[in-house]
Amino acid sequence: MSVTFIAGAKPQPSSSANPAKITIPYLQAKKHSTERDSKISALTAYDYATARLADEAGIEMVLVGDSLGQVVLGYDSTLPVTVEEMLHHSRAVRRGLRRALLVVDMPFGSYHASPDAALENAIRFVKESGAEAVKIEGGRASLVERITKAEIPVVAHLGLTPQSVNRMGGYRVQGKTVEAGQKLLDDALALEAAGAAIVVLEGIPRELAERVTAALAVPTIGIGAGPGCDGQILVFHDLVGLTFSPAAKFVRRYGDAAKLMHEAMVAYRADVESGAFPSDAESYHAEAASSERKNSATVATARKA
Ligand code: KIV
Repeated sequence: MSVTFIAGAKPQPSSSANPAKITIPYLQAKKHSTERDSKISALTAYDYATARLADEAGIEMVLVGDSLGQVVLGYDSTLPVTVEEMLHHSRAVRRGLRRALLVVDMPFGSYHASPDAALENAIRFVKESGAEAVKIEGGRASLVERITKAEIPVVAHLGLTPQSVNRMGGYRVQGKTVEAGQKLLDDALALEAAGAAIVVLEGIPRELAERVTAALAVPTIGIGAGPGCDGQILVFHDLVGLTFSPAAKFVRRYGDAAKLMHEAMVAYRADVESGAFPSDAESYHAEAASSERKNSATVATARKA
């Protein structure tokens, strides 16, 4: 196993504009700072290796999204994802992060039954996986207030909220009409008043995202919400092209990991089948065998001379 030795990883130099640890107050202050005028970078991760790579790339916020269900576990929606599955992957991500803020998605069903059960689950994410904030979907201001009062920062998520796929009748852009846009803005203001630390805006018109971003004091992080948000988030598998369907309009692919991995696997299979892998240099040698090999090499050199 060599995943723990990531080549080229350089520790990030730390300063007030680039702290050694990203926190919620830092991200909140960043929105209003003229000195720190860069946007917030956020990315999903689901395991140790990709979390570590994201951290070492300087990504500020890492979300263990319940998109886990689709991109890692092969479900066809986020709905089947369980608390135990989220905890399992969040612990792996936690071990890969040093600097980035760790946010964990509360999966469908973990905050819908009752506020007490929701709070208990939120506490589990903090205690059992080291989450620094939890994310919940929808305009649930009173729940956000309850969880925030228990000292757990909440990232709210509005717009195209994948856990509402059955109510929405598919994954459709939200907030397109004047009324729907106003409702989303009202929800965002209510969530902020309830204590939401950050608001994720997914799948909404860029004009609406700009209005919400201007109206809120807390940062907005967009996905399919245009360039006007305070930060952007993408699903890791979309970013590196590790999905099996065409990318959504808002995705920018920065690599083709599926092609890279496919080619590596095909080449490996061919080498195994032909006997080209492993070579002698990739094999361990018994002591006697290696001294015999040395002796025959010496004889061969002597013969040549
Ligand atoms: O589950 C997820 O990955 C998300 C982000 C895309 C915001 O909720």
